[in-house]
Amino acid sequence: MSQILILLLTFFSAFQCTTAASASDWRGRSIYQLITDRFARSDNSLTSPCRTGDRVYCGGTWRGIIDNLDYIHQMGFTAIWISPIVAQIEGSTAEGEAYHGYWAQNMYSLNPKSGTEEDWKDLVDAVHARDMFIMLDVAINHYANQGETIKYSNFVPFNHSSYFHPKCDIDWGNQTSIEVCWMGNGYVSLPDIDTENPFVVATLKAYIRSLVTKYGIDGLRLDASRNIRKPFWTEICDAANVYCQGEVWVGDPEFICPYQEYMDGLHNYPFKGRATQAFTSSAGNLSDLVTVARQMQSQCKDVTLFGTFMENHDNPRLGSITTDIARLKNLAVLNIMADGIPVLYYGQEQALTGSNDPENREALWLTGYPTTNNLVPTITALNWFRNYLVSSGAPFLTTLATYTLQGSSVVSVRKGKVVLVLTNSGNGVVTDTTIGGFDNGVELVDLLSCGEKLRADSAGKLSIGLRGEPMVLYPRSLLSGSGICGL
Ligand SMILES: *[C@@H]1O[C@H](CO)[C@@H](O)[C@H](O)[C@H]1NC(C)=O
Ligand SMILES: *[C@@H]1O[C@H](CO)[C@@H](O)[C@H](O)[C@H]1NC(C)=O
Ligand SMILES: *[C@@H]1O[C@H](CO)[C@@H](O)[C@H](O)[C@H]1NC(C)=O
Repeated sequence: MSQILILLLTFFSAFQCTTAASASDWRGRSIYQLITDRFARSDNSLTSPCRTGDRVYCGGTWRGIIDNLDYIHQMGFTAIWISPIVAQIEGSTAEGEAYHGYWAQNMYSLNPKSGTEEDWKDLVDAVHARDMFIMLDVAINHYANQGETIKYSNFVPFNHSSYFHPKCDIDWGNQTSIEVCWMGNGYVSLPDIDTENPFVVATLKAYIRSLVTKYGIDGLRLDASRNIRKPFWTEICDAANVYCQGEVWVGDPEFICPYQEYMDGLHNYPFKGRATQAFTSSAGNLSDLVTVARQMQSQCKDVTLFGTFMENHDNPRLGSITTDIARLKNLAVLNIMADGIPVLYYGQEQALTGSNDPENREALWLTGYPTTNNLVPTITALNWFRNYLVSSGAPFLTTLATYTLQGSSVVSVRKGKVVLVLTNSGNGVVTDTTIGGFDNGVELVDLLSCGEKLRADSAGKLSIGLRGEPMVLYPRSLLSGSGICGL
């Protein structure tokens, strides 16, 4: 009997290992983005200093992530996105060190600053042991080089100038130039790999394929997608055979949507930009957010496969724009419950306040990883609720959000039976509002407060007095047995 069980388990885990995670597998996930150097240290220090302005390695490692994976898992995240793992240029430059992972030198070696190959494999195993996915950030548009002379022979595997575009500075108004010219500056230039060269393309495809299979990667984050011609990405993602999410740092749906013909999804930059301006002050324009959210739904192939985010390593943290905890909570609700796959940047849960790069790359250990304050309880409640919706088979993930403005400071968002009520009025500011469209007389629960009973009237309307905080409403009867809010 037990032998049969072991056989079955062995078969099942072998099966799991060889099954690549598809786009639809990822749709129900919630992603925690972290920078290895800044998340946790192997020695579990909570005091080791990290001055972001110095732009140097602060000592975070893969072992540190393993030791703190439960912190992420208990907040309800079901995936992590990890910064690039490959060997970087060494030493100090006028722009600091390669602690972020975007200055590759050898694509075939791991960054020894992050740990050993054993540590890295143990991390992937630890992630999978929690039934979580791992998304690897890959930067394959360029290498990095310090100084005037480009030392091509240092680059593995593309160790000759013939594998690179001729040097030219990017004209950001010219898409061809963006694809074939070089990023960087006089201190650290980013030699641009010739991704039109068939040998280069074939080598990169084989590389990505072996990276994904060797380490059991479940998804890819494609750095600098806008800097390579679009069809290249289809070849890479087909070779990888896992979900791909690209970075095109542009706020215009018309520009970003066409990229989805070539990869599964992208970071939803248009939504992020409008949500930030809409909710970080009472002067924010909610109508503009609604317009863009609708454009993403109608113009993109499938907005539910985009990554929905509010912070990342390239943008000022929300906490640097507003310290109003109620506003930050409204943005957390959009982050996790709007259309798309939630992506939360490490430290957002602690309401960190770093502004532009490099200030937004704080060492998380200096917070002590508290779990009962800042935004942790809100984010945990949202993730657990979303995970429940996914597991209960509720038509949530593929039901597009319907936005309804309720005056200038409140918007309601309906996705199936879930209704979000959001306001930018600020902590404690009372706003009375009436939301319609519920089932007549239905009893509702606010997932964030688990508080007073709410009941729609006989015409399906609910009158509420907001106090700056968001609400996430769901019929009480559908939560029975879920454990959520004690039901
Ligand atoms: C480039 O790498 C290849 C393969 O390792 C090697 O045979 C070749 O000598 C290298 N070329 C240069 C210029 O370093
Ligand atoms: C755009 O950039 C490409 C590559 O540098 C260049 O060949 C082309 O002339 C540029 N086009 C315009 C209109 O400037
Ligand atoms: C808000 O955004 C909408 C839609 O983009 C725009 O038409 C309107 O003029 C904006 N309102 C203000 C006050 O800026």
